[in-house]
Amino acid sequence: MATLATPEMDVAHDAFPINGTDYVELYVGNAKQASHYYRTAFGYQLIAYRGPETGVRDRASYLLQQGKIRLVLTTPLGSDSLIAAHVLKHGDGVRDYALWVDDAREAYATALARGAIAVHEPVVHSDADGEVIIAAIATYGDTIHSLVERTNYRGLFLPGFRAITPRYQPADVGLKYVDHCVGNVELGQMNRWVQYYADVMGFRNLITFDDEDISTEYSSLMSKVMANGNDKIKFPINEPASGKKKSQIEEYLDFYGGPGAQHLALATDNIIATVTALRDRGVEFLTAPTSYYRELQDRVGVIDEPLARLEELGILVDRDPDGYLLQIFTKPVEDRPTLFFEIIQRKGAKSFGKGNFKALFEAIEAEQALRGNL
Ligand code: FE2
Repeated sequence: MATLATPEMDVAHDAFPINGTDYVELYVGNAKQASHYYRTAFGYQLIAYRGPETGVRDRASYLLQQGKIRLVLTTPLGSDSLIAAHVLKHGDGVRDYALWVDDAREAYATALARGAIAVHEPVVHSDADGEVIIAAIATYGDTIHSLVERTNYRGLFLPGFRAITPRYQPADVGLKYVDHCVGNVELGQMNRWVQYYADVMGFRNLITFDDEDISTEYSSLMSKVMANGNDKIKFPINEPASGKKKSQIEEYLDFYGGPGAQHLALATDNIIATVTALRDRGVEFLTAPTSYYRELQDRVGVIDEPLARLEELGILVDRDPDGYLLQIFTKPVEDRPTLFFEIIQRKGAKSFGKGNFKALFEAIEAEQALRGNL
């Protein structure tokens, strides 16, 4: 059964203050084309660039923005670098879930004193607009958390990036911020990383789902949701549980080459408009069976949105004591069955859609079976 644990925290005594998500950086095989895809399909605006033309020799990075979401797409310019090795091993995937802090040096020192795995010490990056200080610690797999201090910076993003205003700028689709980022780790490793976030950054366990909550006839998983002091950062962590067939988490681990970020949930305040626009632009979503919508009214009661429209779009609904939420999941956005996106609209609900797990995982397994991985 799902269990709620220590739901409230004293923000005034936050053990590791984080203002919010700073940016999410993906290492990709071809950032120029990925940038086109995320703009055209997902409605991001391309606002800055860093590469050989701006004096950086080994990589090219595109900064995309929509609402508060900053997505950095980085590709290696040669085969002999950490970035190239990351792409070779993982395909396109999340390298860095960067956290915005007030004091990067202090945050880094505190994290290390509490057992964080070091990636690099604080580095000062400066240009005419001031300075940004960035340190980094590791999390599961090859994923890292940069700790970004931008108190003394007036520029657009980071030193080295040049603002650009391309003629091609598709309209946004109403995405506002990153609601949560889910990690997949190996069997038996979930509690290790849960403890890591608790020890290093004072995160607390918001909700636990065991394999009885999240199981179908074939496969199952376990999940714990970790949240920081002000609840702006939420990191659910999944591990596979044994079932009759291969868990979707194992499929991810096989194709990603180890642990990593499984999905980013992006918030909208009008999911019907957002998903309609995304579908029109060619984004593919998982679909729920017709039976799901026959039972929906009884399960969630009265909601504002027309059920027929939700069914047409394949949007799922779940209710908790605080309200309800609407959510939908894309298919993986690369050929490997790895990273995908969730679109979520919260109408009071603070949970993660437990009532949808069965329909969702059956849809995922249908796709797994098509790939020959179930
Ligand atoms: Fe999610």
